[in-house]
Amino acid sequence: MSSDLSVPAALISERMGLNFQQDRWPDLVRGLERAAASLGFDNVHTFIAHLLADRFGQREVHALASHLTIGETYFFRTPETFSMLEHRLLPELIAAQQHNSIKRLRIWSAGCATGQEAYSLAILISRLIPRRVDWEITILASDINPEALETAKAATYTQWSFRDTPSWVTNGYFTRTGDGRFLVDKAIRDMVTFRYLNLAEDCYPSMASGVSDFDLVLCRNVIMYFSREVAKQVADRLQRSVRDGGYLMVTASEGSRDFQLPSMVSGGEIVYKKAPVAHEQPAVARAPEPYARAAAQARRPAAPQRPRQSVVTGPAARPSAPAAPPARTAVTADPQRAALRLERRAFARSGNPATTATAQTRHHQPHAPKQVDPAEAAREARLLADQGNLAAALDRCEAALECNKLDPALYYLKASILHELGHQDGAEQALQSTLFLDGGFTMARVMLGAIARGQARVSESTKHFRAALTQLQDMPAGAVLPETDGLTAGEIAEMVTTLMGSESNR
Ligand SMILES: C[S@@+](CC[C@H](N)C(=O)[O-])C[C@H]1O[C@@H](n2cnc3c(N)ncnc32)[C@H](O)[C@@H]1O
Repeated sequence: MSSDLSVPAALISERMGLNFQQDRWPDLVRGLERAAASLGFDNVHTFIAHLLADRFGQREVHALASHLTIGETYFFRTPETFSMLEHRLLPELIAAQQHNSIKRLRIWSAGCATGQEAYSLAILISRLIPRRVDWEITILASDINPEALETAKAATYTQWSFRDTPSWVTNGYFTRTGDGRFLVDKAIRDMVTFRYLNLAEDCYPSMASGVSDFDLVLCRNVIMYFSREVAKQVADRLQRSVRDGGYLMVTASEGSRDFQLPSMVSGGEIVYKKAPVAHEQPAVARAPEPYARAAAQARRPAAPQRPRQSVVTGPAARPSAPAAPPARTAVTADPQRAALRLERRAFARSGNPATTATAQTRHHQPHAPKQVDPAEAAREARLLADQGNLAAALDRCEAALECNKLDPALYYLKASILHELGHQDGAEQALQSTLFLDGGFTMARVMLGAIARGQARVSESTKHFRAALTQLQDMPAGAVLPETDGLTAGEIAEMVTTLMGSESNR
């Protein structure tokens, strides 16, 4: 194929970040051909025409990711980096939690490929925190390549994955399988959650999907494959996904001026540190549990009074219309969500004085319930929560609730913020209000389960999780739950199942 591929290459860069300059077009053609075949196209030309006709959806991204990405990785890749993690960064992050009642550590392996990096991190954590009963540890591992994620979840590897790995790792954390492969021990497997996430999409940071507030983000050997423009956007979003005082790590060749945090070079990597901010709120216990948060955050672009088209909750409970059975339609495109994302992005850049000033001015105005637009107040609350400004977010949420006490999603939002603030009793009360108004609000059950689990109320958490699973199983697995910033029913069911499964290891 000798045609000009600049248009499909630009499209692929925009949707997936991947950069295919002309010298790499042979690779691009091969990938396109394979993806076309896997999707049942007669030839690559019809596939390209399909992509150009604005049919570049999730299915196409998945197929292309399987054939265009490079998934090279291995356990303890760059051993000096893992030594620094073990002896310096992780001990510091762990020590910072010692005085908190709920000790939390949140790590993200972004672009995890087949999972070796994430499992390596889990091995380190298991060494550094052998007794993890009073810890909430999240290791999220994400990738755009669904096939790689399946391999990661299967957790069996050949010798090739240990090519630069210390022997204590292979000897201590794996079981040899009959066919000579190595299976990661269950205790380590249970520490990691794998999830599809396209870094080129503006879907993070997001408290709603649990992709925010990380103590440590590793995004190594990923950005190097991205086009300039997308790399810049990804750098911005990654930095915002790190909590104050946390670290972000990329390889030396990936560091650039797009990262504005103070950095140090260590071995093959660049480590950025997000300095704690001076005006930090008084220390509160950080919120427990990844998927409580992931599943728990209400992020509704729609006005609170509008009927909800959520597959989880169905139309919103209204005084005149009791909760109807959950709608069963998957949400495939949500322009309002996209608009909200744009607004959040603008808000996130405090360089946009207009947006920030508006939100801040509104926040500082004394409550005047009659003048408050509840939809607007709820939207501001969500924006502020995404920025980590939880006190202000709670304030706006309360203002919205003052005007509309019958919207279950507002109570859910309040619960999410309180949960994030570490006020679990208040969060539970708000969740009970949510369920009182709408018994089909599955996320409220998930969050109740996670809070109970965080407090070792095992039978209670199991009860809530089971109820949530029953509702989730009635939905199409691929249905996107609008109030979770893109999580699907299948993903949430998987998370809940993982949380229930790991109960025995606590
Ligand atoms: C070379 S691997 C890096 C694995 C691991 N981080 C390491 O350093 O060993 C690059 C990974 O980035 C993933 N990737 C590429 N584009 C991505 C995107 N837009 N979003 C998420 N992951 C992406 C690829 O699928 C691949 O698994």
